[in-house]
Amino acid sequence: MKAFVSNSYGSPDVLKFAEIPVPVPRDDEVLVRIRAGSVNPYDWHNMRGEPYLARLMPGGLALRTPKVTILGADIAGRVEAVGGNVTEFRPGDDVFAVINGGGFAEYVCVRESDLVPKPENLSYEEAAAVPMAANTALLALRDEGHLLPGQRVLVNGASGGVGTFAVQIARALGAEVTGVCGPRNVDLVHSLGAARVIDYTTQDFTREARRHDLLVDIAGSRPVSVSRRVLRPKGTYVVVGGPPGRWVQPMGHVLSALALSRFTGHRISVADALSCPSPKQNLRTLSEFLNDGRVVPVIDRRYPFEEIPRAIGYLEEGHASGKVVISF
Ligand SMILES: NC(=O)c1ccc[n+]([C@@H]2O[C@H](COP(=O)([O-])OP(=O)(O)OC[C@H]3O[C@@H](n4cnc5c(N)ncnc54)[C@H](OP(=O)(O)O)[C@@H]3O)[C@@H](O)[C@H]2O)c1
Repeated sequence: MKAFVSNSYGSPDVLKFAEIPVPVPRDDEVLVRIRAGSVNPYDWHNMRGEPYLARLMPGGLALRTPKVTILGADIAGRVEAVGGNVTEFRPGDDVFAVINGGGFAEYVCVRESDLVPKPENLSYEEAAAVPMAANTALLALRDEGHLLPGQRVLVNGASGGVGTFAVQIARALGAEVTGVCGPRNVDLVHSLGAARVIDYTTQDFTREARRHDLLVDIAGSRPVSVSRRVLRPKGTYVVVGGPPGRWVQPMGHVLSALALSRFTGHRISVADALSCPSPKQNLRTLSEFLNDGRVVPVIDRRYPFEEIPRAIGYLEEGHASGKVVISF
């Protein structure tokens, strides 16, 4: 099968096109023929081995060469074969999943416990746009943010992969949304259901007089100590990401939030999709929103499989409007 393999850290050029054997599913696994994928900052962090700080953290990146040699966390495709103990899926079923690498290939083996039926009303490309970004948004709003109907939420970084889902899921949960994004995406974020949109090039959201119950900080564009001004006294601050950097960021933003959490009346926490215990259950919940149209994936660009390095290069620029999708 064709795949992009990376055996060293570096720019998108380290992703080498290769012919490798099709994997064989274990008893609890399903072999999926991938029809579409999408790229995430997860891919370029792992590709570059950055931030360097992550190479020193337990469970983080490997020190010298990549731990994950085939990147790609979001997949949608068709079941090709199933392991001996698999009961939920059969060859021919359409599925989607978030996986810890392996998606930049024609086939991948996925544990049955991670796989979910693809929403019928979505194309493979639309389904592949969902898993990591939407799961992260759901974790931030529902599990960490405890968002309730009628509450006010501010989403900083409302126009990217995670942000476009966060705005829609927050609306689906009955909240009033303020989104922060660049000028090109103001209309988009309004159209996704944000009652108010702040263009970060003309207005500093931390100077808002209005107070919010929840801040979902995806962009991490301002220090946590400053951003939390927009919260009500008992409000919640959920960190999703931070500014890009080679050495410390975006981890520095996350760590500073955790450090501050000991000294403030605000609840401060981190949404981490990679350590999420129930991605399957969350994808089922998201499927309900996707099936009835309350949440619609926003696709910025589509790249063919052969152009995965270009797709990552575009995402790295940091201004995607929604998701960047790979068509197989
Ligand atoms: N914790 C987790 O499990 C998890 C999972 C997924 C992602 N993340 C992290 O979350 C962050 C975003 O991920 P993503 O997939 O949404 O990335 P993305 O698709 O690349 O989106 C980045 C967005 O950031 C916005 N942005 C740039 N500068 C900004 C600023 N000063 N103020 C507000 N928004 C700004 C851009 O909006 P404009 O184009 O409008 O400027 C762009 O839409 C990354 O740090 C990523 O590592 C974390």
